[in-house]
Amino acid sequence: MTLSSTRVLLIIGGGIAAYKSLDLIRRLKERGARVRVVMTRAAQEFVTPLSAGALAGERAHTDLFDSKTEFDIGHIRLAREADIVVVAPATADLMAKMAGGHADDLATTALLATTAPVLIAPAMNAKMWSHVATQRNAAQLHADGIAMVGPNAGEMAEAGEAGVGRMAEPLEIVAAVEALLEPRTGQPKPLSGKRLLVTSGPTHEPIDPVRYIANRSSGKQGHAIAKAAAELGAAVTLISGPVTIADPPGVRVVKVQSAKDMLAAVEAALPVDAAVFAAAVADWRVAEPGRQKMKKGFGGTPQLAFVENPDILATTAKRESKRPRLVVGFAAETENVIDNARDKLARKGCDWIVANDVSAATGIMGGDANTVHVVTAEGVDSWPSQSKEEVAHALVRRIADALKDTP
Ligand code: C5P
Repeated sequence: MTLSSTRVLLIIGGGIAAYKSLDLIRRLKERGARVRVVMTRAAQEFVTPLSAGALAGERAHTDLFDSKTEFDIGHIRLAREADIVVVAPATADLMAKMAGGHADDLATTALLATTAPVLIAPAMNAKMWSHVATQRNAAQLHADGIAMVGPNAGEMAEAGEAGVGRMAEPLEIVAAVEALLEPRTGQPKPLSGKRLLVTSGPTHEPIDPVRYIANRSSGKQGHAIAKAAAELGAAVTLISGPVTIADPPGVRVVKVQSAKDMLAAVEAALPVDAAVFAAAVADWRVAEPGRQKMKKGFGGTPQLAFVENPDILATTAKRESKRPRLVVGFAAETENVIDNARDKLARKGCDWIVANDVSAATGIMGGDANTVHVVTAEGVDSWPSQSKEEVAHALVRRIADALKDTP
């Protein structure tokens, strides 16, 4: 009950992501929070005050001039009786109003009247998010001391649209609430004092100074794990191959190119309490990369000879000294997912294998969703298909539980 007796004022803005805010209410309540909901007029086009109120366990508030609200609660009391105000989804319009100090409805009036910490979870079309006006408002809100979680990159509600603008997942928002309130509740975070190492992304294996062999790994899952672990209080080192996504906040990032570099960086980061190997490491590298750019037309087509790369996961799991207490590997499989994962667990000497089903039926490599089975010596835990952020949060929670009773 990390949020027991915490009073959360949840302001739901008018965006398609509002449906996720219903789940957010549940997640906050599961952790012991008391949730009061204010909905903007636009929010009510997406979800009803009835459903929000039913989940919160009390009537959702909607109207500044609602005589009933003003009589029994009123915007000043709504603002005052909150330990934290969460705006989710925070639309471009709501952010603009907040940045400008507007107060023309119950949501904005309560926001102006509160002295509690405020956390916003922006959600909008990617072009609206990157617009200079929205970025100016985000910078203003940051300068005003307002905390922000997300937005994430990925598929948008509009068909065919992708980019940065998706609302953070409910569990990410909950973690951000916990992090903001930690000094007040005095509850240490579940991974406080623990060191974690995460590998992520592809590796680039050089052919010559300008060419390389790579794979399609995006680094999304590994980066999400590093971010989630940092939010739970761990000191995280993320060892990342070349990716195009942003460094997660609050994480030490070591950037590498090849598998050999990645192994060296992993060894330099030890000792750690737990290591998660989510990188898609190339199995082979070119035996003798050219020192100069290979030229066409001299001696026909080149014949590349390969040598095997070190298995970073197996090398770390089988170390005699400085072996992390918990070593977690990943396995992307298209068939016999669980049997293959069991084999890999034994062969590599790790403690858990997170097997992700990348068959066409369930997941696509590089996509935003992941269907995973956590395979350990004790058995198999199959999780429903969820976003990579949700998988990351569930996994780091499980890691926190596994490390709980260790110094
Ligand atoms: O053997 P396979 O590549 O399927 O194993 C995947 C797991 O092993 C992942 O956790 C990956 O990060 C790790 N791995 C590694 N070094 C390699 C190959 C795989 O750490 N050279």
